[in-house]
Amino acid sequence: MKVKIAEVIGFCFGVERAIDIALKASKEGEVFTLGPLIHNKEVIEDLEKKGIKIANSIEEIKSKKMIIRAHGAPPSIYEEAKIFEKEIYDGTCPYVKLVQNKAKELFEEGYEVVIIGKKEHPEIKGVLGYIQNKGIVITSEEDVHKYDFNKKRIGIVVQTTFREDIFLNIVNRILEKSFEIKIFNTRCPDTKLRQKNTRELAKECDVMIIVGGKDSSNTKRLFEISKKYSKKAYHIEKPEEIKKEWFKNANSVGVAGGSSTPKEIVLKVKEIIENID
Ligand code: F3S
Repeated sequence: MKVKIAEVIGFCFGVERAIDIALKASKEGEVFTLGPLIHNKEVIEDLEKKGIKIANSIEEIKSKKMIIRAHGAPPSIYEEAKIFEKEIYDGTCPYVKLVQNKAKELFEEGYEVVIIGKKEHPEIKGVLGYIQNKGIVITSEEDVHKYDFNKKRIGIVVQTTFREDIFLNIVNRILEKSFEIKIFNTRCPDTKLRQKNTRELAKECDVMIIVGGKDSSNTKRLFEISKKYSKKAYHIEKPEEIKKEWFKNANSVGVAGGSSTPKEIVLKVKEIIENID
């Protein structure tokens, strides 16, 4: 059985940067992140040992310093932090910042802002904050039919980790219903590459294993792509979840990981599969 690994594995640039910022902030004592810094339990536990704790609201933060994670936050959080006299260490990924800035720009230019993404995701909640929560969030082609885009100037941004095929289909549907559209393709380079890698691997492998947090949006997208193109696909968080029977009659297995999955875990998964007899 041949085991192939995705070209890009390990933390993406944004996750690596947010961890570095948190580690620097924690040098002089305990600090708090607003929400978990990344979707990986082992890394979160390790960070906790280094004094980087999780808070769910600014009131819960016991330290002077607070860390904004890579997903970003709405302006109201920065204002609240000021009221509580917190010192912000901003881990917002520059690619997320770009979505926020472009949405704001469109809003100020008078466009009806459409955010293609998942409404409940923290990145989208943050972006909405930059346009006074007045944007339309669209997740699927079906959602497009709920709105009347006719005679409106439509400005589009997309969640950094969104799936390319769904994004393009949604844009096409909106095009059919409107006259003027301005689009910023704000999917991040890491997402583009990982999704492309995963699609190619899934097409050539009998089984796909996607490693990453069950709450991680970008990992879930990789799993969906794997299910679409491969005969069998599994989403695991830890190497211990691997089951021997998944690989019965398989000639090739592809392994890919989310952008907050440490490289070592993906490599460990590959090694375990290679040793299955
Ligand atoms: Fe940033 Fe993309 Fe990673 S938006 S946090 S580089 S998945």
